[in-house]
Amino acid sequence: MAGAAMHGAAMRGLAGQGRAKRGRRGKARRGRAGLGRSGPARQGEVWHGAARRGGRWRSCDARYSPEKRIEMKSYENFLPPLSTAEFAALKADIEANGIRDPVIEDEEGTILDGHNRVKIDPKAPRRVIKGLSPAEKEAFVFRCNFMRRNLSPDQKREVKKRMKETAKKLREEDAKKWTQAKVAEALGVEQNTVSRWLDDNKSNIRSDKANNPAPPDARVKLNKAAKEVAVQQVKAGKTQAQVAADFGVSQATVSNLVTKNEKRETLEKIDVRELPEAIEVLNADFRKHLNLMAEESIDLIFTDPPYDEESISLYGALAKEAKRILKPGGSMIAYVGHYAIQRVMELVGESLKFWWLIAMKHGGGARRFPGKYVYVEWKPLLWYVKGTRRDKEYISDFVQSKPPSKAEQDWQQSGVEASYYIEHLTSPGDLVLDPFCGSGTTLISAYKLNRKSIGIEVDVKRWKVARARIQRVVKDES
Ligand SMILES: C[S@@+](CC[C@H](N)C(=O)[O-])C[C@H]1O[C@@H](n2cnc3c(N)ncnc32)[C@H](O)[C@@H]1O
Repeated sequence: MAGAAMHGAAMRGLAGQGRAKRGRRGKARRGRAGLGRSGPARQGEVWHGAARRGGRWRSCDARYSPEKRIEMKSYENFLPPLSTAEFAALKADIEANGIRDPVIEDEEGTILDGHNRVKIDPKAPRRVIKGLSPAEKEAFVFRCNFMRRNLSPDQKREVKKRMKETAKKLREEDAKKWTQAKVAEALGVEQNTVSRWLDDNKSNIRSDKANNPAPPDARVKLNKAAKEVAVQQVKAGKTQAQVAADFGVSQATVSNLVTKNEKRETLEKIDVRELPEAIEVLNADFRKHLNLMAEESIDLIFTDPPYDEESISLYGALAKEAKRILKPGGSMIAYVGHYAIQRVMELVGESLKFWWLIAMKHGGGARRFPGKYVYVEWKPLLWYVKGTRRDKEYISDFVQSKPPSKAEQDWQQSGVEASYYIEHLTSPGDLVLDPFCGSGTTLISAYKLNRKSIGIEVDVKRWKVARARIQRVVKDES
């Protein structure tokens, strides 16, 4: 049971406290940390001698200004709150078995460990540890909680960012004492993690790969319904931190969801009756609409179909119509999931001529592709032509993109690649088509480059978002 586990862990931490207390006297006698024992110090021992200076123990007050003390007053938010279920389990455990592990306070009465126990029972027994510097207190809080809490990878990443700051503070306080090994021990992490944190010049390539891609943890990836529930809970007054804890995601994830939702709601309120003549956005299934379009009327198709397996056949349906509506020598460029390239090429190749493979380098971090065990660092775009390309300008097959805002919809692409290929494969006044226009990225790029465009979007909400986004761009430009 989560509560029982936490309870027990706190107990172990406290045993360390007891040793720490005794150890302070012991260390004063021996004059060095480690208490004559080889191997890693047990929990609590790293705090020995924390504030020993010049032959006597100094309190935090002596070394830190009142402002500093106020700054470090609350340690409660150093880690995400317990989820509602975890809190209920802890409460039930305490009600059944009583509080086994005292709450740990510093000499000023600030709680370092046991905030939840105090919430459940304000009279919970206390134990005071003295002589820790502010950074040592922070490290203590992390060490007590980081391993024993059942955090999702997303939450762990968030906490580790804060631990990194504490590691730096420890070094600033006393670089000689706080060797990398000691800092690692104090925080309860590997020494090479600390080494990476403290060496800003060290290449981050490996660590980025190890830390950034979202691991396949169901708790990290919220589905559409869960996202909506999370937003509704925040709207109903629950704190973002609590919602994040309940869904096992970082608070930043919840904050992004709330911001996105606010933006979407704002966009949906915009009056979208008027769009510039150069842009048409249709709410339809492209398969029911492209057959109505005139033969050889489109200069470029630039599009981003859905990536799921069921949608692969849509590439074939599009290519058939593209063959008819594209002008001779006109291009069709479509994003494609790596996993689907082979099947998409078979389908599209029946109607159009394969021209080239384009690589779009992600603006954000790499993502893991579970099952294939690959860090995905770029997106492919397949470039097809009707007949032979109509121009002879050399253009690049590599685009360094920017992270899309994804503010209006999750699939939103950056406009960088659309702009590049629209600019180089069409002329002002030409007509660009995006039959899967989503939030209208391609249409906005076309508009900014003085091209006409038609977008088709089957989902009514996204269609509205596209229109509102376009209208906002038009307004900003006028
Ligand atoms: C990957 S998203 C496009 C995102 C877009 N590039 C953007 O930046 O917002 C694909 C879009 O195609 C739409 N879609 C799927 N099937 C469709 C269909 N048969 N006809 C028209 N739109 C469709 C989906 O609703 C979705 O919005």
